[in-house]
Amino acid sequence: MAMMIDTLHRVFTLQTKHSTYQMKADELGVLLHTYYGEKTDHSDKGLLCYRSDRGFSGNPFELGTSDRTYSLDSLPQEYSGFGTGDYRITALRVRNQDGSQAVDLRYTGHRVEKGKYGIPGLPAVYAEETEAETLVLCLRDACSGLEVELYYGILEELDTITRAVKITNRGNKAVFLEKAASMNLDWEYGDFQWISFYGRHSMEMHVQKTDVHHGIQSVGSVRGISSHQYNPLLLLCERGANETMGSCYGFSFVYSGEFLMELEKDQLDRTRLLCGIHPDNFSWTLEEGETLWLPEVIMTYSDRGLGKLSGNFHRVIREHICRGKWRDKRRPILINNWEATYFDFTGERLITIAREAKKLGIELFVMDDGWFGKRQDDNSGLGDWVPNEQKLDCTLQELAGRIVAEGMEFGIWLEPESISVDSDLYRSHPEWAVEIPGRRPCLSRNQLVLDFSRRDVQAYIIETITELLQGIPVTYVKWDFNRAICDKFSGLLDSGRQGEFSHRYVLGLYSVLETLIENFPEILFEGCCGGGGRFDAGILYYMPQIWCSDTTDAIERLGIQYGASFGYPVSAMGSHVSTVPNHQTGRITPLSTRGCVAMAGTFGYELDIEQMTPEEKEEVRKQIAIFQTYAPLIQKGVYYRLSSPLEGTCTVWEIADPDGREALVSAVYHHAEANPVPVRARVQGLRDELYYRLRLHEDFAEKYPERTLPYGFGPDETISGAALRQYGFVVPDAADGFQAWQISVEVCGEG
Ligand code: GLA
Repeated sequence: MAMMIDTLHRVFTLQTKHSTYQMKADELGVLLHTYYGEKTDHSDKGLLCYRSDRGFSGNPFELGTSDRTYSLDSLPQEYSGFGTGDYRITALRVRNQDGSQAVDLRYTGHRVEKGKYGIPGLPAVYAEETEAETLVLCLRDACSGLEVELYYGILEELDTITRAVKITNRGNKAVFLEKAASMNLDWEYGDFQWISFYGRHSMEMHVQKTDVHHGIQSVGSVRGISSHQYNPLLLLCERGANETMGSCYGFSFVYSGEFLMELEKDQLDRTRLLCGIHPDNFSWTLEEGETLWLPEVIMTYSDRGLGKLSGNFHRVIREHICRGKWRDKRRPILINNWEATYFDFTGERLITIAREAKKLGIELFVMDDGWFGKRQDDNSGLGDWVPNEQKLDCTLQELAGRIVAEGMEFGIWLEPESISVDSDLYRSHPEWAVEIPGRRPCLSRNQLVLDFSRRDVQAYIIETITELLQGIPVTYVKWDFNRAICDKFSGLLDSGRQGEFSHRYVLGLYSVLETLIENFPEILFEGCCGGGGRFDAGILYYMPQIWCSDTTDAIERLGIQYGASFGYPVSAMGSHVSTVPNHQTGRITPLSTRGCVAMAGTFGYELDIEQMTPEEKEEVRKQIAIFQTYAPLIQKGVYYRLSSPLEGTCTVWEIADPDGREALVSAVYHHAEANPVPVRARVQGLRDELYYRLRLHEDFAEKYPERTLPYGFGPDETISGAALRQYGFVVPDAADGFQAWQISVEVCGEG
């Protein structure tokens, strides 16, 4: 049973396979948060909440002089309100008609719904009725009539609880929301470590682990996109937790716009975490009867370390966020012409790349930026989605047709949210660009942003893109967006509603994407925002994969993909083999290493195939064969981080099949050392009682015959899953700089 409701004591207990979550509406109707953590029974943990008289922490008026130990400032709350006695960071801040900012929410009722709730216009976890249950708790501010409904979706099997909030103005005067978090989570103690993900363009998702300190700490974005700088993913764990041990919590915001994840450890060491839309660019008017849904947060808990926590996220995102035909289907091995040609190509050149790629086993050709309007560089043309027939030497239909005739699928790059000042679209509709009247807008990559909060713009983009895609045999679209948003203003919003712009933009984007994926259910959409500027669970609801980073350097990618793996599955990570010296870093790495790293993602190529030697082409053929063999395992297997790119010499990861009969271990030396310390891989996810054979992947074995695996362990010998887990095997040393090894672990008997 995923839910236990004690109506007499108003205690609500949510159960997943390994975790328990509990709330209680107390004697004043305040909804207390009483427990989240390791699985336990449904006894009332509210009885254990500690109350004491604390100076300067006030008491609700209705208690009279009888009790100074009850304070909103110190009790763990389920959804806190600003201005009525809780001085910590609070989930909800409003401005009432009289200008006051107070809100005081009390429990009014609850209901249980079958299956998992959905959210109109916003991405959300979905599930079969048998896989999930929904609890709704209703709160109300008696003075203003503001109603807050807290939604909980329980996915028992996946140790996941989702949260969303629906706010309705049931009063008779407008209420202005100034901050409205999607989630508030309080702990009565606070000895946590916080893991967040920071970065920049071309260097996303770097892991930062710090102790939680007294005061407030946060990550967020006010850039209109979830951003390269901080990802909307946060983990909290007990001190000392590691990949396989310790209690940890994970929070993933299912939203692609501005967000704030903030945490306060207070005077009593109590800890509060909030997650929601960033309040700096947010205000929302709720007239009488109006409703606003806030985006969803996925919460998951693991009592067995970070590996299990990530595994929960991987499954939720892969199976309950990603949708459509491509959710479970093997993604095509693609070649993208960007790093091969940049803007400098002709139709003939593209066809040659496609033809050569086909010979090596590549399946899809993607035509990147520069095929439309007057786009010879990144200064012009965005918005004019009209093929440049002079540059292509033919019509787009003919070009796509010829590529398909070569036996390749055809894919195309688009950046529909952007507009160049030098474009016909801007000349005819300057009012569609995001600008503040009377001010000069900030340019970025010399471009502006189309106002996706406007319905006319949404309709225009849907029509233009639909027409374009309908006319060509296209099976893949790369949906890019290459700037952050500022100068926020929409010509169609009243001055009092300009604070709604950022959220309305995201809602507009989601609505356009929803229509396009409905119109083109066969097309594989890949998200991109200068790489990982909008790498979040929200985008993955519409597009099952996202280009991880504009860095294609294999060694840099180790850190980026390692970071991303904490919250996102391999099937979501766009990753390609590119040339050397690498265009972003100048680093030279072996082709096998680049292949190995790209296989920890959706796998493809992005290089000038005509420049490759026959030996390199042969190696690509073999790489593709390896990928084909392991593609189902890579896409759907259980992913384990065995060592980190931030430490030691070698990054090791593993993907095992859920039955524990097979695994692929990948190891890349990111740092060279003389007389190196052996790198030991403790293989996870195998069955202790079964016996396995280890095999260095043929290609590697051929190339480095002197390397045996592991030392003193012949190719015909077998070893138990228990030994591989407990003792591990030693990864062969590096023979070359940045050497990679792929090692397969295959079951071969019961011992
Ligand atoms: C962004 C993308 C790249 C490429 C260029 C084209 O930077 O991340 O992969 O598509 O735009 O302009």
